[in-house]
Amino acid sequence: DDPTADPFAVAQDAASQIAEKTGVERHDIALTLGSGWAKAADLIGETTATIPATEIAGFSKPALEGHTGSLRSILLPNGKRALVIGARTHFYENHGVRRVVHSVRTAAATGATTMILTNGAGGIRETWKPGIPVLISDHINLTASSPLEGATFVDLTDLYSRRLRDLARTIDASLDEGVYCQFRGPHYETPAEVQMAKAIGGHIVGMSTALEAIAARQAGMEILGMSLITNLAAGIQKTPLSHEEVIDAGKAAEAVISALLARIVAAL
Ligand code: 6GU
Repeated sequence: DDPTADPFAVAQDAASQIAEKTGVERHDIALTLGSGWAKAADLIGETTATIPATEIAGFSKPALEGHTGSLRSILLPNGKRALVIGARTHFYENHGVRRVVHSVRTAAATGATTMILTNGAGGIRETWKPGIPVLISDHINLTASSPLEGATFVDLTDLYSRRLRDLARTIDASLDEGVYCQFRGPHYETPAEVQMAKAIGGHIVGMSTALEAIAARQAGMEILGMSLITNLAAGIQKTPLSHEEVIDAGKAAEAVISALLARIVAAL
């Protein structure tokens, strides 16, 4: 977030520190685990190092429950190395978009070519029940921001890799998919905003992921996005939304969706 610094140089520094602290020169896959997904870290393989994110260049203190604030290096059964990012900076924290995407740029600098982005989010489709995981097929970025600076005209076709979505469906054929709308937050949307999101083609509302996916694409990574539907969006569900409800839904679904994600990672 230092306007005079080069964000890619900071990410390179962070990656060097991760290599030094983990003893792992190169990671293959990176995962950002949002609300409800944290247990996946324990299921995908053997953790060989855990580092508080604040020890790494460019990372902020975690602002939120449900985020561990640590980075873990994990050895997968197939010999690949995964970097699990339990520290997400949200756009609504007002640290600037560079901070929001720093973990993704760091993951790319560690060598990761696959970026798995997960979150807890609101569902717009009435047929969805709280607790279900859905694949992100595309996004609508409603933050009025971008992680790209200057004349960087990056193509976002197939941003959320069809290949990886198909692969996820070989593990669970019933996985549904939808278009994720990133709002700035931190308030939830009004019912009218949810109707707008629906009208413009959205199915999922949340406060993360889209900006991170853009940065991951710029870095040349292949992206898998998954949302846990923690609740239906305002006006779709008849009861008011609460952060507690979101956290509780995450906890209730955690074991099942984390196991699913672990099986997907094993198939990569
Ligand atoms: Cl309904 N909206 C947003 N923006 N984020 C959420 C959510 C809704 N439910 C969980 N996270």
